Amino acid sequence: MPVVRRVHSAELTPGEIEVLRGLFAAAWPRGQFDEVAWQHAQGGIHVLVEDDGEIRAHAAVVERDIEAAGHLLDTGYVEAVATWPEHERKGYGSAAMREIDRIVDERYELGALATGEHAFYERLGWRRWQGPTFVRQLDDLTRTPDEDGSILIWTTERTPPLDLAAEIICDWRVGPVW
Ligand SMILES: CC(C)(COP(=O)(O)OP(=O)(O)OC[C@H]1O[C@@H](n2cnc3c(N)ncnc32)[C@H](O)[C@@H]1OP(=O)(O)O)[C@@H](O)C(=O)NCCC(=O)NCCS
Repeated sequence: MPVVRRVHSAELTPGEIEVLRGLFAAAWPRGQFDEVAWQHAQGGIHVLVEDDGEIRAHAAVVERDIEAAGHLLDTGYVEAVATWPEHERKGYGSAAMREIDRIVDERYELGALATGEHAFYERLGWRRWQGPTFVRQLDDLTRTPDEDGSILIWTTERTPPLDLAAEIICDWRVGPVW
């Protein structure tokens, strides 16, 4: 049976960080998971799925402000979801995400993530945002049209009723904003 652990970024050991960096390099073999992606996954909770004493899958959730359909929501934003290629399709990725969903349920008003792998998340109950996407930097709102259709949300008992066809706006950050 896999063991699912929650670890804060500050509590990851050097050995765990080394294994995770290897996992991300294997899961994104064309180098898509760069230093900025690693930084985006820092500062929150990491979910480690372990089996036979080894890390098999990872997902992280960090806090962001997301404005969805006019509601500014304290959001758990999901980053760095990955399973070692040789261990895909064994349920490890789903186990990581189910724990992430529990964390979002416990702590946040909304869950959000950006992905091209919609089906993997939709089968777990995540829903596609249908409206236009934006980023806010101070008072400036900028459209992020390349992200339209790639944002998924998870609603909790604290999420207000949302019109998924309305605007969704993330706070600015270095690198890919979504
Ligand atoms: C996406 C990923 C995390 C899935 O991890 P996993 O451990 O294989 O996931 P699971 O074994 O829990 O998958 C369970 C089911 O989800 C579905 N599924 C898995 N990956 C899927 C995908 N990419 N697209 C659609 N459905 C997917 C399958 O139906 C699978 O069940 P089945 O094969 O028994 O029918 C993994 O493929 C991965 O690391 N990919 C590379 C990195 C990546 O793309 N991360 C997500 C980016 S946001």
